[in-house]
Amino acid sequence: MINVIGLGYIGLPTALMFAAHGVEVVGTDCDAELVATLNAGRTTFKEEGLDELFGRAVAAGARFSTEYQECGTYIVSVPTPYDKATKRIDPSYVVDAVGSVLDVAPEGAVVVIESTVSPGAIDRYVRPALAGRGRGDVKLAHAPERIIPGDMVGELLRNNRTVGADDPETGELVKSLYASFCRGEIAVTDIRTAEMTKVVENTFRDVNIAFANELAKICRSDGMDVREIIRIANKHPRVGILSPGPGVGGHCISVDPWFLVGDYPELARLIRNARETNDSMPEFVLARASEVMRESGITDSSKVGIYGLAYKEDVDDVRESPTLQMLESMGRHLAGSPCKVYDPWVERDVVPNQVHSMEEFLEGLEMVVVMVGHSEVKGRPEAFGDRVLLDTRDVMGSGENVHKL
Ligand SMILES: NC(=O)c1ccc[n+]([C@@H]2O[C@H](COP(=O)([O-])OP(=O)(O)OC[C@H]3O[C@@H](n4cnc5c(N)ncnc54)[C@H](O)[C@@H]3O)[C@@H](O)[C@H]2O)c1
Repeated sequence: MINVIGLGYIGLPTALMFAAHGVEVVGTDCDAELVATLNAGRTTFKEEGLDELFGRAVAAGARFSTEYQECGTYIVSVPTPYDKATKRIDPSYVVDAVGSVLDVAPEGAVVVIESTVSPGAIDRYVRPALAGRGRGDVKLAHAPERIIPGDMVGELLRNNRTVGADDPETGELVKSLYASFCRGEIAVTDIRTAEMTKVVENTFRDVNIAFANELAKICRSDGMDVREIIRIANKHPRVGILSPGPGVGGHCISVDPWFLVGDYPELARLIRNARETNDSMPEFVLARASEVMRESGITDSSKVGIYGLAYKEDVDDVRESPTLQMLESMGRHLAGSPCKVYDPWVERDVVPNQVHSMEEFLEGLEMVVVMVGHSEVKGRPEAFGDRVLLDTRDVMGSGENVHKL
């Protein structure tokens, strides 16, 4: 039996995937309301294919509890934020969860940390927790997750994976567990290499996004069309520039590079710059929105609405989203009343002035800042009528009323 600890965006689909592929699974979360929702037969967030997977997993015997279970293998998938002051990982959730695991784990149990951690964090923070309890018998492994919200179920099946482990036997054991559903290649290595590899992957993405965003700023400052420049540059056989956007959000790309900056402040300079560039984009959008308002003769900021609250298209996850970052600094640029905000994916109330239908959103608006390219509007500027659009994701095509970053 496997006990998956933490049933959030990563832990829940992982637990369900194991169960749907014949592995006995209990999912444990400290959030009693979340567990009650699952036990009432409902999933806790929106994700393509998740409800269907949930049905299959429950039919196969998946169970959910607030209690940690006595079993041979634990998969820990709890949050790993960073400390905003030091930029270093906050390992407290992982350490707490492992502590609770040790209360029930039998001799020789394997504890797999799925949460993303900074290189060396398992040795620095988790192993001492084992030693402190005299549990040298417990084997540790690290199996970081790579799936992308929006295609989590598909990517769980298809993606290649990494397993770092204390010894090759543990590595092979953990590999064989994931191979129950994973059709990708599973590389087995040591824990530190697996930790670093995962953080490097997200840092690679962040640095490349920052490059595109910096180009957008340079081009805007001197009247050049960054999209046309990138389109042509990408015809070069060894160039593949990403698209600029309003910033980076979510619990991964906007967080993990900070682990390297925090641990290697003198060395991780490009990485720090990239993070800062991406974090500056919501401010850049605000400045650009003011510019478009001026050009379009719009003087009343209450006539400007923000479409999109999630951090990317077709998900309901708002963590670190560029829209939230932008709302934080709003007063400085679009002075006056806060703008209306609408996101069809985000049903719960997250910010003031959030509305819950497109009709209510568009009423009285002259301009919309499109922060997320959800499928319902992608390629459909007419979804916003003839309003002035600031299209920060370049998903609205071209038109007289469509302005780009
Ligand atoms: N969300 C993503 O897209 C994504 C992708 C790849 C990797 N990751 C990594 O996966 C990890 C989990 O992220 P997430 O997005 O699933 O987080 P999340 O916040 O959605 O879920 C974490 C869950 O853990 C529970 N929890 C916290 N402490 C607990 C404890 N001691 N015992 C039991 N349950 C506990 C919380 O109640 C919550 O339900 C993080 O390290 C993250 O960096 C996330």
